Amino acid sequence: MASRNGTPRMLRYAHVVGWGKYVPERILSNEDLAAIVETNDEWIRQRTGIGERRIADEDESTTDLAFKAAQEALKVANILPTDVDLIVVATSTPEHIFPSTASLVQDRLGANRAGAYDLSAACSGFVYALDMAAAKVRTGDIDIALVIGAETMSRLMNWTDRSTCILFGDGAGAVVVQGKSEPGGVLSSTLRSDGAGWDLLGVPTVGSLDTYLPERSEIVLDNTGRHSYEMHRLHMNGREVYKFATRVVSDSLRQVMTEAEITPDDIGLIVPHQANQRIIDNIAKQLKIPEDRVYSNVAKYGNTSAASVPLALVEAIEQGRIKPGDYVAMTGFGGGLTWASLVLQWDAVQAEYSRVMDARRRFIYRYAVTRRRVLRAWRRVVHLLSGSRATPLDTIRRRFDDDDGDF
Ligand code: ACO
Repeated sequence: MASRNGTPRMLRYAHVVGWGKYVPERILSNEDLAAIVETNDEWIRQRTGIGERRIADEDESTTDLAFKAAQEALKVANILPTDVDLIVVATSTPEHIFPSTASLVQDRLGANRAGAYDLSAACSGFVYALDMAAAKVRTGDIDIALVIGAETMSRLMNWTDRSTCILFGDGAGAVVVQGKSEPGGVLSSTLRSDGAGWDLLGVPTVGSLDTYLPERSEIVLDNTGRHSYEMHRLHMNGREVYKFATRVVSDSLRQVMTEAEITPDDIGLIVPHQANQRIIDNIAKQLKIPEDRVYSNVAKYGNTSAASVPLALVEAIEQGRIKPGDYVAMTGFGGGLTWASLVLQWDAVQAEYSRVMDARRRFIYRYAVTRRRVLRAWRRVVHLLSGSRATPLDTIRRRFDDDDGDF
């Protein structure tokens, strides 16, 4: 049987060959937050380690952030969007319930051979997505996958709730995974869930529960009647999530290390979900490794949910904290409840910059814009000629048409 590019299908290794990140320019500091809710820089730093976070502009959506991180990753890998077979976007803040953010990114990139889907596993999403994509690459079913974690968490904040609005930020990170015959890349993984904790962390929003939910923005979810939650806004029982995270993360990391036949001492760098510096420090303590082998950038970006692991990974690479041959462990935990860990052996070196490939990528991005505009203009003409009315999504469509990204 042949794979999609015509080469014989065989078991391969899934290597990370490209990486990129994007964060919005606007910085919201702890001092800025103290002007909005009753809090202060000292409390936030002591309890969470967060100093500031990025906030997307009003006209910036998750697709915008994901697209820019993806462009970076393709550039580092020096491959074309048209070579990509699969795009997975891990996100809790998609533009729509459907279509997926991944499909919007696929269109923007002009990745015309790629399948695309979103993956919902909250802050564990990127590790889940990387594992899924790597599995498909390893079977030889596909050659190249683009895995993105992207979030605009600021859209879900209740800016009067100081226990949550100080924690989250916006951003995106992406990796390119490619199949190779040389051993290495993703070595082991574990994906877990405990849905009994579904109400500890989430966003009550439009969904299949609507039949039962009252039509008002304030709803009471628990049977004590003491806790009310605002619709479409993130709610969290921070203490319980904290206990859960410190209980499961180290065990999950130990499990993937055992499966990869390594010990914590062999690990070059652990890249954990960036939720709270205390949780990050706890990982080092439980695994009995020095704190500098557990990467942290929570101070700069806060909790960016599914974007946090790839954002941290990309920064660690850029800072030279990951070297060829290093074992790198990633771990995510969050809503669901979900948690996931993965070990990979790093062997990527940045591909040599090619002006020709850069020009070809730019051409593909521009072609994608032109194709989208022509197709939509044509559909509008057909609509007009046939006398049918504009579709309800026309306004949204125009917003996307106007925003063709940065090349
Ligand atoms: N500023 C000042 N005081 C505050 C603030 C604030 N921003 N927030 C809460 N407080 C107060 C509380 O009201 C409370 O006061 P009280 O004792 O008078 O009642 C006191 O500080 C302590 O509150 P706690 O909630 O117990 O604070 P804690 O030390 O647990 O820290 C935090 C809270 C930071 C949320 C912590 O529980 C945490 O990090 N939890 C884990 C969150 C997490 O990991 N999420 C990951 C998943 S996210 C996802 O999947 C999308």
